[in-house]
Amino acid sequence: MTEIRGIRSIAVDVQDLDAAEAFYTQIWRLEKTGAAADARYFHGTSRHHHIVSLHRAGAPAIRRIDFDIATRDGVLALHERLAGFGAQSPHAIAAPGGGFGFGFRDPEGRNFAAVWGGEQRSEAPTPDRPHKVTHVNLNAADYDGTTRFMTQALGLKLVDETIRARFLHAACGDHFSVALVKHSVATLNHVAFDMCDLDSVMRGAGRMKDAGHPIEWGVGRHGPGNNVFAYFAGPEDFPLEYTSEVLQIDDTYVPHGPDFWKFPPGRTDQWGVTAPPSEKLARIQQMFAFVEGGHLI
Ligand SMILES: [Fe+2]
Repeated sequence: MTEIRGIRSIAVDVQDLDAAEAFYTQIWRLEKTGAAADARYFHGTSRHHHIVSLHRAGAPAIRRIDFDIATRDGVLALHERLAGFGAQSPHAIAAPGGGFGFGFRDPEGRNFAAVWGGEQRSEAPTPDRPHKVTHVNLNAADYDGTTRFMTQALGLKLVDETIRARFLHAACGDHFSVALVKHSVATLNHVAFDMCDLDSVMRGAGRMKDAGHPIEWGVGRHGPGNNVFAYFAGPEDFPLEYTSEVLQIDDTYVPHGPDFWKFPPGRTDQWGVTAPPSEKLARIQQMFAFVEGGHLI
């Protein structure tokens, strides 16, 4: 079993920090929890000090994805398996939220960190507010190599596979915390935020539409994971998803492959109500690269 119990936070580079802060607080419904030089931090309703950090930069990019580790020993155990991947030594993190962990880069240059502890919060899931980052989808040019890294080095468990994506389960109930998408570039596909119910996804979709961020795909229900989804272009076209009702699984879950996970012709989800993903979504789901050095925490 992996030491990773899900996604702790994402770090995003933005050109217009004030505009991005206004979006994530007023429309996406996170709350600001802190600021540092050229950086701002936002929490959902989960225990994490922040689930998004924004960093002023010359170009939009994904800076880093931080994994949530349950124990200090878990950080050390994971670090032993990542010695060959440019991993920092485990250390006390000075940035807001704190914690103990280290950054590393995967073989395709994605930036990650593994972090335990730090400031914790306590709040119940609330309608219309994101609870946590429930999954990240990553495009992989070396699809099989990245799958091996994620399963063997990180210890994530491959639970389902479609013709173009692999779903990786961490040490929590959620069906998946990371998905790999077969692609030509190793970039970010999208980041999904857990809402407490379908009604909150629908209300969020309306709020986004009113604010000039129309639904780019959805509202629908995925196959693997069974989660409800609505996709949007966020600030500076960052690919975002509101989701809810992700399937909760345990060790008895029976994985399936591409022959099982098929939709009838003309459908892209279980319900058959949504149009296919927009051209804009397809474009922004490949354009966010990981910045050099973004693994340093
Ligand atoms: Fe997703």
